[in-house]
Amino acid sequence: MKITIFGSGYVGLVTGACLADVGHQVMCVDVDEDKVARLNAGEVPIYEPGLEDLISKNKAAGRIEFTTDAAKAIEFGLLQFIAVGTPSDEDGSADLKYVLKVAETIGQHMNDYKIVIDKSTVPVGTASKVERSVAAELEKRGVALEFDVCSNPEFLKEGAAIEDFSRGSRIVVGTDSERVKKAMLECYGPYNRQRDKVMFMGVRSAELTKYAANAMLATKISFINEVANLAERLGADVEEIRHGIGSDPRIGYSFIYPGCGYGGSCFPKDVKALAHTAEEIGHPAEMIKAVERVNARQKSKLFEKLCQAFDGQLKGKTIAIWGLAFKPNTDDMREAPSRELMEALWDAGARVQAYDPEAMDECRRIYGQRDDLVLAERRDDTLEGAHALVICTEWKAFRTIDFPELYQTLEEPVLVDGRNLFQPDTVKAAGLAYYGIGRGDSVRPVLA
Ligand code: UDX
Repeated sequence: MKITIFGSGYVGLVTGACLADVGHQVMCVDVDEDKVARLNAGEVPIYEPGLEDLISKNKAAGRIEFTTDAAKAIEFGLLQFIAVGTPSDEDGSADLKYVLKVAETIGQHMNDYKIVIDKSTVPVGTASKVERSVAAELEKRGVALEFDVCSNPEFLKEGAAIEDFSRGSRIVVGTDSERVKKAMLECYGPYNRQRDKVMFMGVRSAELTKYAANAMLATKISFINEVANLAERLGADVEEIRHGIGSDPRIGYSFIYPGCGYGGSCFPKDVKALAHTAEEIGHPAEMIKAVERVNARQKSKLFEKLCQAFDGQLKGKTIAIWGLAFKPNTDDMREAPSRELMEALWDAGARVQAYDPEAMDECRRIYGQRDDLVLAERRDDTLEGAHALVICTEWKAFRTIDFPELYQTLEEPVLVDGRNLFQPDTVKAAGLAYYGIGRGDSVRPVLA
């Protein structure tokens, strides 16, 4: 099958590489000439395990190519995936200018039947807008060509995107056209062998499914973080509670890990966008707004804990930070808790010595050279002259620490564990002060 993908960002590249790998012919198109040149030279501009190999293998086999030539790309595929960015507008709504620009371009250049597929996460009603944009361009040209628009949201997690694409729990397709259903079954057939994963539904249901899934997951995280904050003040340990509730299959163990707040490119943006849509239609989504508020508060926890540990005296202190990415196995620092922490520390006159296995370049790109930021070559180099260590991201390489040695190295023996990686008793036995999330002694309990 011939497939065109607009947008060679995260979603577009993963979709393109995976569809090429099962034998489809894929043409990826992007307006960024530099990016396309790099992709053609075999360089993948984002970090995602396995993606570079998958692209180079399929490029060598002639199944995937990259271009800036939109007209050629539109001519190429029956399926026209739109996988361009939908950044948050100032008011939290998703900005559709890039999506609608692609729709317009398709309308300007198509010469036969096309299926236009919304792959980017877009608000409910976007498929109708895309349809109107394509139709308006066709009308300007005075040509009568058939086309369909369908919604096919992605549920990829960064760091596991290829696995998620190939072995995801479902493939959601919003359409009421039999012609589209047949084409989408052909497109996703190779992923549909073990069991029927393709779920057809109404276009608007498919659009809302994506937001509902992300909002539900974000809700689980904010919920457990809220419980953690209660546990802290009531002298309980949220890790014991997590086991206690997760064992009930109706609740389950996943996505109830307390921490320093969710980040990334999806949850914060999608939760905001859904809350905005709800406001717009006059039905404020109280729970969704609360999920966002709890998360905003959670992101300031690490700084609060440091203030507690140092009686608010952070000026002149040096803080070691392990983990800059918003989660492990990515170099993505969008909405990462580490950013809020570093910025608060700088405002308070402290210095930061940080390390991340993948996100150091990204950190340099965001913050540039500054006197109060040292990016260390190795994890343990951050500890030299540091007063405290804060763990922001649960990379595997951070899971073992020689605590007696850490006690010797730090100027003040303080460990803030933003991901609850360690047992408080083990850390305290080495003489360190331990501040976890929702674990009794991070805050003086109010109950005697
Ligand atoms: C998410 C969804 O999982 C994915 O289906 C969707 O397509 C895009 O958004 P992603 O942003 O890559 O994927 O990250 P994910 O692994 O889901 O983690 C999101 C955030 O939640 C991270 O900041 C993570 O640290 C946090 N998290 C996750 C918790 O704090 N606790 C948990 O129990 C799980």
